[in-house]
Amino acid sequence: MRKPFIAANWKMHKTVDDALKFVEAVSGRLPDPAVVTCGIAAHFLALYPMVQAAKDLNLGVIAQNAYGEFSGPYTGEVSPRALAAAGVQYVMCGHIERRTLFHEDNQLVAKKVAAALQCGITPIICTDETMIQQEFNGEVHYVFAQLMDVLSEISFDQVKNVIISYEPSWAVGVGQHANPTLAEEGCRLIRRSIADTYSYEVADKIRILYGGSVNPENIELIMGKRDIDGVLIGRASLDADNFLTMVNRVAALYAPAAEAKK
Ligand code: PGA
Repeated sequence: MRKPFIAANWKMHKTVDDALKFVEAVSGRLPDPAVVTCGIAAHFLALYPMVQAAKDLNLGVIAQNAYGEFSGPYTGEVSPRALAAAGVQYVMCGHIERRTLFHEDNQLVAKKVAAALQCGITPIICTDETMIQQEFNGEVHYVFAQLMDVLSEISFDQVKNVIISYEPSWAVGVGQHANPTLAEEGCRLIRRSIADTYSYEVADKIRILYGGSVNPENIELIMGKRDIDGVLIGRASLDADNFLTMVNRVAALYAPAAEAKK
């Protein structure tokens, strides 16, 4: 059984103080780390204080971005090595907003993924597609090609160490309906492509998340799907009580299986 990963993506919201107040509000109310992994992707300024504040909590700290080099003349960029030294455990690579607003392409994202892994940070590789690019019955699914390009800089052996997130562009940031059936189909097809390209063992082990308009009302439906191992939550994760409701609902879903595994 793959342990679910519930990640908040705060995007460019909250001050450092707001972030620390959130950590305080969820402290003591997060689910058992043996059942669910929880994480928060915050902006760079908040990362180090959050690592300090969340040290003893089931709350991993996630960077929303990092550069594909360790140091050098890259004004304004942040090195994955500096993030690792600050205790950051995960980094999102290639979120759709970075691709569309900041023109990140597969080649750049591939470098970021490789550099993060070299520093011991787990990349959360974001994949996306529009409705038109999606061809469930066609031979080439847009998202596969994107994913394979992004995995091109890492070795066969390293693939099992990444987390993948499937975030179709029609569902991100719209705030109303996430379609659990389409979400599951996207994640299932990504897993199948990993099995075909790498191995069944890797495909079985790798965590594939879904992102796009997840909220307290739909999270159980989405997390009830077999190939969805977690979610990346934007807007609905900004409120501490909402976040707690969601992680604890997922914990309730997974607790019996975790107990049986003991
Ligand atoms: P949303 O954002 O939940 O607000 O749709 C998801 C994301 O951008 O990761």
